[in-house]
Amino acid sequence: MERPRFCSIFFILLLLALVSLDWISWAWTAPDCIIADSLLFPNLSYYVQFCTLAPGLHLVASCSNVKDMAQTLERVPRDTEVLCLQGMVSSLPANAFDDFHSLQLLRLQLGAINITSRTFQGLDQLQYLFFEHHAPCCLSLFLPPNCLETLRSLSSLSFQGYCLNYSQNINLPTSLRHLTLRNSCLTKLQELQRLFPSLLLGSSPTPSIKLRTPFLEVLDLSYNLQLKQVGVRALHGLKLRSLILDGTTLKTFDLTGSGLLHLDFLSLVGTGIEKLPGSVTGYSELRALDLGKNQIQNNLENGDIPSYKALEFLGLHDNYLQSLPIRFLSTLPQLQRLNLSMNKLGPTLEIPEGVFSTNLRVLDLSHNHLCDVPHGAFLPQLQELWLSGNNISSLSNESMQGLRGLRTLDLSWNQIKVLKPGWLSHLPALTTLNLLGTYLEIISGIQLQGPQMLRHLKLGSVEMLDIYPPWFPMLLSLEIQAEACIRFMSLSGEPFLLLENLTLQASYVLRQPDTTTIHFPSLRRLTLRGYSLMLSTSQLQRFFPQQLPLLEHFSIWCDNDNAVDLHLFGMPRLRVLELGYLNFFYESSTVKLEMLLKELPQLQALALSHLNIRNLSVSSFKGLHHLKLLLLSSQLALEMDSNLQEFIPQMPPYVYFSNVTFTCQCEVSWVESWATQAPNTFVYGLEKSICMANASDYSNTLLFSFLATHCPHDTEFWGFLISFTLVLLLTILPLIGCHKWSWLHYLQTLLHACWWKLGGHRLRGQFNYDVFISYCEMDQAWVLEELVPVLEKPPPEGEGLRLCLPARDFGIGNDRMESMIACMSKSRSTLCVLTGQALASPWCNLELRLATYHLIARPGTARLLLLFLEPVDRQKLHGYHRLSRWLQKEDYFDLSQGGVEWDTFCEQLKRQLRKA
Ligand SMILES: *[C@@H]1O[C@H](CO)[C@@H](O)[C@H](O)[C@H]1NC(C)=O
Ligand SMILES: *[C@@H]1O[C@H](CO)[C@@H](O)[C@H](O)[C@H]1NC(C)=O
Ligand SMILES: *[C@@H]1O[C@H](CO)[C@@H](O)[C@H](O)[C@H]1NC(C)=O
Ligand SMILES: *[C@@H]1O[C@H](CO)[C@@H](O)[C@H](O)[C@H]1NC(C)=O
Ligand SMILES: *[C@@H]1O[C@H](CO)[C@@H](O)[C@H](O)[C@H]1NC(C)=O
Ligand SMILES: *[C@@H]1O[C@H](CO)[C@@H](O)[C@H](O)[C@H]1NC(C)=O
Ligand SMILES: *[C@@H]1O[C@H](CO)[C@@H](O)[C@H](O)[C@H]1NC(C)=O
Repeated sequence: MERPRFCSIFFILLLLALVSLDWISWAWTAPDCIIADSLLFPNLSYYVQFCTLAPGLHLVASCSNVKDMAQTLERVPRDTEVLCLQGMVSSLPANAFDDFHSLQLLRLQLGAINITSRTFQGLDQLQYLFFEHHAPCCLSLFLPPNCLETLRSLSSLSFQGYCLNYSQNINLPTSLRHLTLRNSCLTKLQELQRLFPSLLLGSSPTPSIKLRTPFLEVLDLSYNLQLKQVGVRALHGLKLRSLILDGTTLKTFDLTGSGLLHLDFLSLVGTGIEKLPGSVTGYSELRALDLGKNQIQNNLENGDIPSYKALEFLGLHDNYLQSLPIRFLSTLPQLQRLNLSMNKLGPTLEIPEGVFSTNLRVLDLSHNHLCDVPHGAFLPQLQELWLSGNNISSLSNESMQGLRGLRTLDLSWNQIKVLKPGWLSHLPALTTLNLLGTYLEIISGIQLQGPQMLRHLKLGSVEMLDIYPPWFPMLLSLEIQAEACIRFMSLSGEPFLLLENLTLQASYVLRQPDTTTIHFPSLRRLTLRGYSLMLSTSQLQRFFPQQLPLLEHFSIWCDNDNAVDLHLFGMPRLRVLELGYLNFFYESSTVKLEMLLKELPQLQALALSHLNIRNLSVSSFKGLHHLKLLLLSSQLALEMDSNLQEFIPQMPPYVYFSNVTFTCQCEVSWVESWATQAPNTFVYGLEKSICMANASDYSNTLLFSFLATHCPHDTEFWGFLISFTLVLLLTILPLIGCHKWSWLHYLQTLLHACWWKLGGHRLRGQFNYDVFISYCEMDQAWVLEELVPVLEKPPPEGEGLRLCLPARDFGIGNDRMESMIACMSKSRSTLCVLTGQALASPWCNLELRLATYHLIARPGTARLLLLFLEPVDRQKLHGYHRLSRWLQKEDYFDLSQGGVEWDTFCEQLKRQLRKA
């Protein structure tokens, strides 16, 4: 299990170690960029500002403060599917995104940018392209006519806060379905024709444009505040399905004669209109009309009513309606969804016969001051009834009569104090019931009897809520909220046999009597929120005494200042753990992170916020072999133990810091090179973190600038060098007594013998190369001119070793990382050419640590040979003792002492390499 993982990590790290010697400036982690896999932790956007997502896309890169586009893009993983860029750059050069072949969504918030006609070249997969600028409106944006032509998959294009005043004749790809020009400075629809002539083919008199089928389906022109008159004739020829004109100041709108015969959906939210748009016939094909946030009041019933024979959805929310527009509604035979929320239809509402079409499925009457469930002609077909935020206090059997088909009933945030048994008896099809925000104090399964299919239930009380048996074991999701306390009274056995999602929000959750046990055998997702009193292992254990064998996602948000003494156990499948507001460092707290995380073998994502953790050390993460994501949010005075460095090779690939304050101390100086250059880890947020010297330090010093100014540069690095040289000396000392080079000869004979023994078992064919050679740029000349010719010299004079050299053998244009991995895995051994200069880069230092880490982890499988070209100053050394134990003395070659017998050395080296 462990072996392949270690092995691959080993290779990657070693490769990175080597790559670093060549491209010191190249780094994995991009400052100011967050790289994420949204599958791993869907709730990331709750903690850190995030990017737009689209269905099916999960590899995300989001960069802010972009100033140098090329530099930013260089650091973004090439396989990202979503890319959001925010900052100020003046231009997007040609082929800017050439390497991002998987990119499907691109959101640019870059101020006033110049786009060239070849900027988007190569983005074959791009489906969504967004240009956004937030207030103040608007920036001007110039698009060359051909810049979008190559986007063969583009289906959605959006401009927000930009004016396209100087652009014209922009060719749109025929795959485009959705075009948004929001918060822009359109004054007339005719301007669209100038911008996108290919849209409006019907009106184009030019025969030279070949008649293609018009392609656009959705046109969103909302918040164009200057768009006052819509001469819809301008849209003639479009076969639009949806037209969105929200937030424009159209007082009247008439589609008559527009030729928009295929329009399905018209949205006029917040336009201030007082009358229904349209003449008697113009809208006869419209299927959806949203007129929310307008001033329609009771004008609907006056005068001629336009004909909307095909209307299926009607939005009339927030329109000051005081009574049901009966006359109007009865002319809508196809109506399926009606949204009347946020009006003033209450306190009582009578629904006369025949008002609603028999097709009505969804009715929203939320926030209407209703004191009762509407009386009258409800429909057996109605599937969803939304009555949230009204003033309904009593519910009885009669109130629900006639709703045989109802599946979803939302009664949240009403004045409900009692539920009479049987009140749901007329709702046999109900699956989802929302009773949050009631005044109930007691509830039992009896009060919810009737619907056989009830699967999703939300219950909430402003005080405390007691749950009594009999309960029904068929629920799949349950959410219970109470200000003070939730008590499970005499429930035992398996009242929650099938429950998958459970959310409990209260200060206390209790069972009565204490001896009962409740099982949750199917639970997958558990959320505990709002404990203001002590939450402890024993409390948790009392409530969940059994294993939670299927639990995958556990989220605890407390609300307390008391210490927490928590230990999670019996959750063998837990993948995601979110902890917030648990006080970990209170004096009486005995159990820390280490204890808490001890038994979570499958954990992949760990999010810790407001925990008052003071110290992170390697012991906390010991058992978490599958951890992929670590998020630390809102922590004060955090210390990171220097022993965490040893954990670097196993660090999760995604590490995020959000609002974390560190203690100003030099021990964490390793963090900087890790965060900015960590191989294979995406670290986010450290460059913004601040540190505090003491509790009253409010100077907001950035951690990195503290390290730069106060900590001797690279203490760690020198520590490494010192120990490293010591190791060398210890290795060499016993041999120094002999003739200067006799130990080499000794080794030579030893190896020679081995060579003959092993020679026959070589599996040369398995590898393309014998040696992968890694070196710093400054040593390149020596390597290419001296070392390589000798090693490659063909037999009989030489050994004819097959070498892999990054400078020579990596294909041009190939990804360096990939080439490196490929080349490395095809080489039998790795030879590092080291000099003081090479080691003096913190990057090399870090990487060598990684390499040696793996020598420790996998002794015997990794062949790493070190070749010293220069003496290393002893003075500067300390603490790099590890290497000595794992590198064999014959793995060092020291050419630093001058007067090298070149031939002897080469012979020696060749033997050693072949032995690998
Ligand atoms: C994310 O977590 C917070 C805190 O638990 C919660 O309030 C929020 O609903 C979660 N969001 C999602 C999308 O799950
Ligand atoms: C964009 O290009 C035009 C001319 O090519 C130039 O005048 C303008 O300054 C450029 N804008 C920016 C923001 O660089
Ligand atoms: C674009 O044109 C509109 C109207 O023609 C004008 O109000 C607006 O200021 C112009 N915007 C820019 C950035 O030039
Ligand atoms: C009704 O409209 C409001 C406001 O847009 C919206 O929040 C609500 O979800 C809608 N109701 C339904 C059932 O879609
Ligand atoms: C809610 O109903 C009660 C009577 O049941 C009434 O006293 C109260 O004024 C109503 N509140 C609102 C906001 O209509
Ligand atoms: C449980 O919650 C998750 C996340 O919110 C959701 O995707 C899933 O559908 C829920 N399952 C049930 C049975 O409600
Ligand atoms: C940042 O962290 C501090 C310390 O934990 C906390 O008090 C503060 O509320 C956090 N700020 C935000 C915006 O979360």
